[in-house]
Amino acid sequence: MNTFAIEVAGLRKSFGNHVVLDGIDLSVKAGKVFALLGPNGAGKTTLINILSTLVVPDEGSVHVVGYDVVTDKEGVKRSISLTGQHAAVDEKLTPEENLRMMGRLSGLSASEARARATELLKFFDLLDAAHKRVKTFSGGMRRRLDLAISLVVARQVLFLDEPTTGLDTRSRRALWDIIQSLAAKGITIFLTTQYLEEADQLADDIAVIANGRVVAQGTAEELKSRIGGEVVEIRNANDEVIREVPIDGSVQELKLVLDMFADKVPEGARVNIRRPSMDDVFLDLTSSKKEVS
Ligand SMILES: Nc1ncnc2c1ncn2[C@@H]1O[C@H](COP(=O)(O)OP(=O)(O)O)[C@@H](O)[C@H]1O
Ligand SMILES: [Mg+2]
Repeated sequence: MNTFAIEVAGLRKSFGNHVVLDGIDLSVKAGKVFALLGPNGAGKTTLINILSTLVVPDEGSVHVVGYDVVTDKEGVKRSISLTGQHAAVDEKLTPEENLRMMGRLSGLSASEARARATELLKFFDLLDAAHKRVKTFSGGMRRRLDLAISLVVARQVLFLDEPTTGLDTRSRRALWDIIQSLAAKGITIFLTTQYLEEADQLADDIAVIANGRVVAQGTAEELKSRIGGEVVEIRNANDEVIREVPIDGSVQELKLVLDMFADKVPEGARVNIRRPSMDDVFLDLTSSKKEVS
């Protein structure tokens, strides 16, 4: 199999005269979890729509497991599962009925579809709710069902567009566990997120997009080291951060910071030196126009 499940080069897309994607290059290794991280309106859904053949690119080359998204749509569609922000769930049916229906539409026999439905309900922890109507579901249950439906037929690449947006912490963590166990089965996962923590937790590789371009790509560690240096944290006796000062990592700068604050901090204050967080990286990358590569 291809080393890269997804390859995008020079991708451009505008709606009218609004340039949304302004020359995107990225590659996603097969069997890995890839996170596309960017603020609202950055073009994440547009990119997922192009990768899944729902939207046609203006320029550039886009391949999914070797198939061209423009000239070989069918090849792409056979290779992917997609969970959008609005998945095709019938609210009036039960999850069991939804899953069986999707199985039949995907070419499974009635008994295969029933078996697959049961398997997925079990995997997504929905067996207890199997015969309740979907419209009574909580956000977290609904999201698990969306994901289950997109996995009725297992494909090589799974697209997840903001899978945990709007979920509470507990449901979010449950979904992270599921995504990790799907990744362990060797499925390539391409997800979009606005949450740094999510990209950091789940993804082997992260691309940050802003202003229609990839402003950085790498592992969470690589991105953190790219903005360089260290952050000096001063905490009070209650362990609350009272000062955060970025330094270049040199002894001289550290001494300068300590000299500056030593006699201004409260009794019992402590100092800690840490790597920049994903928040620091994200702010640095998206607030300035400068490109990091
Ligand atoms: N079909 C469309 N027609 C016109 N503008 C669109 C269309 N789809 C998306 N856009 C615009 O493209 C920009 C990026 O949208 P989107 O890809 O949904 O961003 P994200 O998913 O990162 O929030 C937004 O400004 C949005 O309004
Ligand atoms: Mg979106």
